[in-house]
Amino acid sequence: MTSRIFKDDILEGQVALVTGGGTGIGAAITRELGHQGATVYIASRKPTNIEPAAKGLSEELGREVHAIRADIRDRDSVKACVAQILEEQGRLDILVNNGGGQFFAPAEMISPNGWDAVIATNLTGTWNMTRAVADGWMLKNGGRIINITMLTRRTFPGMTHSVAARSGVEAMTRTLSVEWARRGIRLNSVAPGFIASSGLASYPAGLAVIEQMIPQIPLKRPGTAEEVAWMVAFLAGPAGDYITGQTLTVDGGKELWGDYWPIPDPEDMPDLDIPKEPWDQ
Ligand SMILES: NC(=O)c1ccc[n+]([C@@H]2O[C@H](COP(=O)([O-])OP(=O)(O)OC[C@H]3O[C@@H](n4cnc5c(N)ncnc54)[C@H](OP(=O)(O)O)[C@@H]3O)[C@@H](O)[C@H]2O)c1
Repeated sequence: MTSRIFKDDILEGQVALVTGGGTGIGAAITRELGHQGATVYIASRKPTNIEPAAKGLSEELGREVHAIRADIRDRDSVKACVAQILEEQGRLDILVNNGGGQFFAPAEMISPNGWDAVIATNLTGTWNMTRAVADGWMLKNGGRIINITMLTRRTFPGMTHSVAARSGVEAMTRTLSVEWARRGIRLNSVAPGFIASSGLASYPAGLAVIEQMIPQIPLKRPGTAEEVAWMVAFLAGPAGDYITGQTLTVDGGKELWGDYWPIPDPEDMPDLDIPKEPWDQ
């Protein structure tokens, strides 16, 4: 099987690392980069999420996909992961910071530990991996970094911790794209809307609200992991050569229109009192 969109050999000879690359959106990104000829490493914490995926994707692509156990919150683990890739391949051209996660909770229910964990994974974890890859390879040799975020431009009730972390990632991406332009590093963010992938399946309690939200998406359907992967592949390859510091949204128009889910009304709704001008009394 080949890519439905891109040329097969466009990333031939390049090495990519996809965090969380064994599940959902990350697996679709791995598949797409692999179709285009890149040697792909996938990294996450659970062997059950990376080992069967690396085997399955290797068979599907006809080229080896490598699995490394790594926790993006742990700087030693991140450094060891990058060092292993550089030792085995001698280069690391593309980093996709896709690994992440959060839990749905009203702000007043987020515990200090819950807040810290979501920031540590989604903001600091992205920074840890970015710095390790930059220090190990890209500051000297250039490269492309794509950060997977979420819809941050309006609000995201129930996800205060994650929308704060992802907004931080987008600001970091813009800033690094300026600082590291002279190093030949392009950085962009891809913000998925509602994507039918393993990430949504892990919120059983939230599925009802997710169904409620589908009519609120202008294109009236959730996206697919492959549709997010196409945007990542576009930015990772030569089509993206003049794009840096941007957030590209893949959301079927969601961010432009509609509610996410209903928010509760206050107990006493104020009466509508429209003051009259004196001459209208
Ligand atoms: N699906 C959506 O609608 C949607 C929308 C907006 C944004 N996103 C974001 O897109 C990304 C992929 O989502 P998905 O739907 O494919 O969900 P997913 O399958 O839950 O993917 C999350 C991946 O991140 C890895 N991960 C989590 N914590 C990690 C850590 N500390 N170190 C290394 N890897 C870690 C997980 O693997 P391990 O558990 O093995 O570590 C898993 O492979 C996530 O960042 C998600 O928040 C998804």
